[in-house]
Formats: sequence, C-alpha cells, structure tokens
Amino acid sequence: MRGLPVVGIIGPGRAGVGLALALARAGYDVRLHGRRKKPVPKPLALTVGPEHQPPAWIPQAGVVILAVRDDAIGPLADALARAGAIHAEHVVLHLSGALGQEALGALVGSRAALGSLHPLQTVSDPERAGDRLKGAWAAVEGMPRAVQAAEQLAQSLGMHAFRIASKAKAIYHAGAVFASNYCVVVEAVAQRLLRHAGLSDADAWRALRPLVEGTLENLSRQAPLEALTGPVARGDRATIRRHLEALTHDDAVLYRALGRAALELAQKQGMDETTAAQVAAELGTDLPPVMRKT
Ligand SMILES: NC(=O)c1ccc[n+]([C@@H]2O[C@H](COP(=O)([O-])OP(=O)(O)OC[C@H]3O[C@@H](n4cnc5c(N)ncnc54)[C@H](OP(=O)(O)O)[C@@H]3O)[C@@H](O)[C@H]2O)c1
Repeated sequence: MRGLPVVGIIGPGRAGVGLALALARAGYDVRLHGRRKKPVPKPLALTVGPEHQPPAWIPQAGVVILAVRDDAIGPLADALARAGAIHAEHVVLHLSGALGQEALGALVGSRAALGSLHPLQTVSDPERAGDRLKGAWAAVEGMPRAVQAAEQLAQSLGMHAFRIASKAKAIYHAGAVFASNYCVVVEAVAQRLLRHAGLSDADAWRALRPLVEGTLENLSRQAPLEALTGPVARGDRATIRRHLEALTHDDAVLYRALGRAALELAQKQGMDETTAAQVAAELGTDLPPVMRKT
C-alpha cells in the first residue's frame, strides 16, 4: 500500500496554515512556505523565500497546494513554471472556490496533474480548522489524478468531497458568498437598524443573537424553503409598507431585493398569484418568475 504523499503548501494565510495544521494532525508530512517570516503553530515550520524562487522542498512534495488569494494563483503558477519547479509526477491544487484548474494554466507544460480543492467552510482561526473542516463539504475539480489526490486529502480530514465542473465554479462560489459572507452582512444591517431604534451597539447584537441562533437552528432541521417566516411569507402588506417608510433609501433598496427573493420562496410554498402580485406591488418590484415545488 502506498503511503501518504508529502504535502507542500505555499501561502501561510488562514486557509494555508489551517489546512497544514489539520493535515499534520491527520498524519501527513507537511511543508509550508511563505514570502516573509511569521510565527506558525507547532508542529508546523515555515520556509521563507522571495516570490520568484520556489521552495526548496518542492522536489520532495507529491502534492503542492497554492493557498494564496485567488488573484495571486495565476502569477504564482507562472513563477513556478518559469523556474521549472513542477514536474509530471506532481499534483498541483489551489483552494479557490471561484476558479477552476484553468487558473494553473501556466503549469500545463509541466504535465503535472492540475486541479482545485475548495473547502466549503470558513477558516479564520487556523487552530480550529481541523474541527471546522470535519463534516464540511469540499468542491473538487481538475485532471483525474488531481481529483483523486484532492478527494484523498478531503477524506483524510473528514470532509465530504464532491465533484464540480470547472465552468460551474463561479456560480457555486457566489452561492457560498450568499450563505456565509452576505449572511454576516445582513446581520450587520440588522444590528444597525436596532441601533437606530435606540439600542446600544452591544445590546443590539445581544438582542439579535437568540433570533439568529433560532433561525440557524431552524435551518439545521429544515430547508430554506420550509424555514421562511415573516411579513412577505404571510402576505402582510401593511407591515411591508411601514418597514419601507422607516428605512433609508439604501436600506430600502436592500429590503426590496431580499423581499423579492423571499416572495419567490413564498410563491413556491403555495402563495396564490393575487396575494403575490399585491406583495410585489408593495415592495415596488415585479413578480418573480417561479418554478413551483411540484
Ligand atoms: N479562509 C477561508 O475561509 C477559505 C476557505 C476556503 C477557501 N479559501 C481559499 O484559500 C485561498 C487563500 O485564502 P486565505 O483566506 O487563506 O487568504 P489569506 O489569509 O489572505 O492568505 C494568503 C496568504 O498567501 C500569502 N501569499 C500571497 N502571495 C504569495 C506568494 N507569491 N508566495 C507565498 N505566499 C504568498 C500571503 O502572505 P503575505 O502575508 O506575504 O501577503 C498570505 O499569507 C484563497 O484561494 C481562498 O479562496 C479560503
């Protein structure tokens, strides 16, 4: 039976250090490289060098992971190609959610297996990455050997790997942005509105937290379609009008856009066309085109 590959990670940021730590704890021999010195948690050790100079450990690595921000993946692949650092036996992966193997296009001539592994999870504290990644889904795409290696890494960390087409990654990642980042943004808007209602910043968030936790708890048991409540789902037009009268122009724009999306869910849940048209008129939007649940 073949042993675990040596995994080399370039980019000691949140994802890079988090993944390196989780893989080291799962028994992998992990190398980590950055362009400047910084402390990294044990048992990791960081090698450092200028951007155009590949890490010295590359020949020993079976899998090389480019854990740099999305815009830096192409230039880093280009620098590795120019240095002739990558060979046919290597698997090279990046971690971007929005890009596919084409981001590593500069390395095609090396005949290495190219692909991507995107953990559908947010990693802000590398120490907690192992726990966070366990049970998370991970989108995998690329050349067959790269997909195989990415699936093996995902499996070792307790992630559920699934395959995705390269050209579907942008829309997939936009979905992830709505699920995580924009969810945070919407909570920040809610906190600001409660502040306008007279609560302190701290109290606004303390007051909202149980509501947010209740919502997430509902969502852990029900799909979004079943979990939606509120004035749009109920067809409470006068309440919607009062909200819009109270909001600033910018907040009303956001309220209308999200309200229209909520109306689409309400229609799928069986709201009749007349009520839906009245709610749309109150929101000042058109009626969303709806595919019924059945
Ligand atoms: N964090 C997450 O939750 C998460 C989840 C899934 C996927 N990802 C993906 O993971 C990738 C990295 O994201 P991140 O959140 O970890 O970003 P990040 O915290 O900004 O880290 C990027 C790291 O790359 C380093 N870097 C940039 N260019 C480099 C180069 N040429 N050579 C060596 N190191 C270089 C940066 O170092 P400097 O300090 O020198 O700039 C920084 O340490 C992205 O593709 C992202 O989409 C992230």
